[in-house]
Amino acid sequence: FTVLRQRVHVRISIPELSNTTVFMKDRERVQNILQSMMKAGSNTLQVISDFDMTLTRFAHNGNRCPTCHNILDNSKLISDECKEKLTELFNTYYPIEIDVSRSVEEKLPLMVDWWTKAHELLVQQKIRKDLLAMVVRESNAMLREGYQLFFGHLHEHSIPLLIFSAGIGDILEEVIRQAGVFHPNVNVFSNYMDFDESGVLKAFKGELIHIYNKREGALLNTGHFQELRTRPNVLLMGDSLGDLTMADGVQDMENILKIGFLNDKVEERKQAYLDSYDIVLVKDETLEVPNGILLYLTGNK
Ligand code: C5P
Ligand code: MG
Repeated sequence: FTVLRQRVHVRISIPELSNTTVFMKDRERVQNILQSMMKAGSNTLQVISDFDMTLTRFAHNGNRCPTCHNILDNSKLISDECKEKLTELFNTYYPIEIDVSRSVEEKLPLMVDWWTKAHELLVQQKIRKDLLAMVVRESNAMLREGYQLFFGHLHEHSIPLLIFSAGIGDILEEVIRQAGVFHPNVNVFSNYMDFDESGVLKAFKGELIHIYNKREGALLNTGHFQELRTRPNVLLMGDSLGDLTMADGVQDMENILKIGFLNDKVEERKQAYLDSYDIVLVKDETLEVPNGILLYLTGNK
């Protein structure tokens, strides 16, 4: 095993791949994908990443960090009564989301129920658009360590970053705007709020994106992938098995490297993650590994 690690180190010089948080089912395959992608050049690369618990931290000092929904749920824009209901929903459905003993088919309608019920509750709260920036500012939202390098490097090399999130687009954008990393190479697919003339939330726009329909979401946005058709090499990052279909709209794909953050229920889910993600990062709250890979792919090492 050690020998293999050293070989990775020597052959493709991404020292971060030797971090103790890194697990791979097939290191040789990862090396080959990385080598092909490096040879093809960074002008053929696009990055597709999930947001909650992938670009943002899962935990900090032993406390859970908020998702986009949680940022709003925990804010002072929500009444105590509604907060209780939203917490109850989270406590009911989050364990189902990460339950390995249930199939996607079984979970899918339950996830739709969760999102639908939560969005209905949020709409009842008459949330004002002009207060969202404050809500994010006062929240515990945290991007993963190394985010400046991640966003900055992609921007510097004009590599498109698609953030594909079943969270709330308006909140997500505010998080990256306030962090100073909402660069022009960033595009977002997510659930966006719809406000009335007086700026009060009245509904959510378009088709709901939840944890298990990212494939459908991708296929609705053919225009985006059409524009990126000269970039057939994809770095995909997610934390849920539902994130694996985010690149299903990519045209003429040549190589894809999938990085999965395994944050919770590690023992139960490790094998499933190893079977579907090329690189699994176990309880890794940083973007060190994606950053190491990006530096390699852009020839900075
Ligand atoms: O950005 P991403 O696609 O990861 O966002 C989805 C996450 O939002 C899910 O992992 C889920 O746990 C969380 N969620 C939430 N509250 C809801 C619905 C989803 O915190 N009402
Ligand atoms: Mg996520």
